[in-house]
Amino acid sequence: MSWYKIDSLEEYFKAYRESVDQPEKFWEDIAEENFVWRKKWDKVLEYDLHEAQVKWFLNAKLNITENCIDRHLAERGEKTAILWEPNDPNEAAKQITYKELYHQVNRFANVLKSKGIGKGDRVCIYLPMIPELAYAVLACARIGAIHSVVFAGFSATALATRINDSECKMVITSDGAFRGGKTIDLKGIVDEALEQCSCVENVLVAKRINSDIELKENRDHWLQPLLDEAADSCEAETMDAEDPLFILYTSGSTGKPKGMLHTTAGYMVYSSFTFKNIFQYQEEDIYWCTADIGWITGHSYIIYGPLANGATTVMFEGVPSYPDFGRFWEVVQKHKIHQFYTAPTAIRALAKENLDFVENYDLSSLKVLGTVGEPINEEAWHWYNDHVGKKKNPIVDTWWQTETGGIMISPIPYVTPTKPTYATLPLPGIQPGLMDETGKEIIGNQAEGRLCIKFPWPSMARTIWGDHQRYKETYFTAFPGNYFTGDGALRDEVGYYRITGRVDDVIIVSGHNLGTAPIEDAINEHPAVAESAIVGFPHDIKGNALYGYVILKETGEGRDRDNLRKEINQEISDKIGPIAKLNKIQFVPGLPKTRSGKIMRRILRKIASGDTSNLGDTSTLLNPEVVEHIMTHVIKD
Ligand code: WTA
Repeated sequence: MSWYKIDSLEEYFKAYRESVDQPEKFWEDIAEENFVWRKKWDKVLEYDLHEAQVKWFLNAKLNITENCIDRHLAERGEKTAILWEPNDPNEAAKQITYKELYHQVNRFANVLKSKGIGKGDRVCIYLPMIPELAYAVLACARIGAIHSVVFAGFSATALATRINDSECKMVITSDGAFRGGKTIDLKGIVDEALEQCSCVENVLVAKRINSDIELKENRDHWLQPLLDEAADSCEAETMDAEDPLFILYTSGSTGKPKGMLHTTAGYMVYSSFTFKNIFQYQEEDIYWCTADIGWITGHSYIIYGPLANGATTVMFEGVPSYPDFGRFWEVVQKHKIHQFYTAPTAIRALAKENLDFVENYDLSSLKVLGTVGEPINEEAWHWYNDHVGKKKNPIVDTWWQTETGGIMISPIPYVTPTKPTYATLPLPGIQPGLMDETGKEIIGNQAEGRLCIKFPWPSMARTIWGDHQRYKETYFTAFPGNYFTGDGALRDEVGYYRITGRVDDVIIVSGHNLGTAPIEDAINEHPAVAESAIVGFPHDIKGNALYGYVILKETGEGRDRDNLRKEINQEISDKIGPIAKLNKIQFVPGLPKTRSGKIMRRILRKIASGDTSNLGDTSTLLNPEVVEHIMTHVIKD
């Protein structure tokens, strides 16, 4: 029997046991039976977690696009690979078959080559959710170039930082983006970013909104004419199992974003194995993940996982609120979606609206509902279950991270009994552990601690681009020999996991990871600001929102406070992007600090969330009077 698809709880436990007892054999069987290789591995796994070194399928050779596209052509050539649904419901959807995908990707790959891109070069992709984004990603993989997709909501400064960090030779963008009722000038943002980047030689521009843009001579090129001229077949590059596939940036608790590097074979095996099991995909199903390809969810569960399985994957350009709050459900009805995968923040936003928006549509095609990105609260879980799933569809609450490459803890639908707010059980191959404050593992159920993974899995990130030391320090030093996730979790009496949230300085706002340090850096650039501290506080829709405590310089004291607030948020928007704007800004005379000068964020978090009854131990505070002042002037709703 192949372990590829788990159909019963018994089989799950059996697979899990095997995966722990004989991890190499477990993954070797899956790799052997489900993929095409140009050469098989000499060894399945080599690792040293103390040194943050992991290699899977050593010396195997393959190309991931042959697994995602070429091998399906014979039997699924006319099957829709990507079903593209535009921002405007009046514009026609596009069905891109596997055969068409093959030609588009090959043409695109030839264009990349003609512009000097080869194996190992980095290509930054800054595009809206249009088919060209999928083609661009796969074209890079076809020729062995490393793609770095930057979410098209990031600002010029954030884009420039990412382009420079991985020294991208090329940027692929569009003349603009549609987003609900708005248009966004993506090319303008790229132009601004490139003023700070000397590494970029060429910019390819897809046409989407037909705006009047300027092409810089010798640097910028319209994409379509190049595609039209290119040959529609391109030999796939032979890649080593451990050759880099992509870099994807994620926020850290300090300083600049971390370019997480994923490699080829392990990532492919794990993203497709999890896709198959977590969505129980059947040949005729239409699967929809509403994420943006700019995030890891889009990489693993819009592109690579579904396509490696020969699935039909929906790519949605729009937003859940346009033209109205019924859009998701209208699309589910229109395309008869079977699996629907979204974020708790979207569910909470929709749950606030009139029920008619859901009830007006026929959702009977749905079989599996998923969530990802942040803890789902009980109320949202029930709303999703009652009104979308009509209590007949299992909800898979999937916990994972950019760093993990694929889903780690999740129910398998129709197999694992679900429990609201619980991600339930680890997938085969995943060995979680809860650690206490002293670094010891807590054994047994009914435990709470810091969530670690004790054994390597195929799709774990291999390093932070250009900074292996940082990778090691961030993930492998807190609990030596283990991967530390940065999350807290509890394990209930039957061994189900519930993720309780971040235990570091990353705050998840509407499902987006935001590091406090880069936001504080942005605020501190404002000429009137002396110092600042950001914390998260609970928010009905966003899960968390941001609360800023700001100390002004003397020169700022006389300024109008509301104008200052606007300017500070503009500063954040320019440096990072609108997603990082603060909901509340309080001007304070000082910040609570320890005698060694560390900001006591714990106290600031409590005050921001309106919970000042017990501030905990404040005896190490250098300036207790500041706390009093902050509490009396706290900004309420
Ligand atoms: C959080 C997204 C609770 C968690 C795939 C993690 C979750 C961070 C869940 C990673 C979930 C993700 N329940 N929390 N089901 N899924 N998280 O890198 O804090 O954007 O560490 O990857 O999101 O976010 P990232």
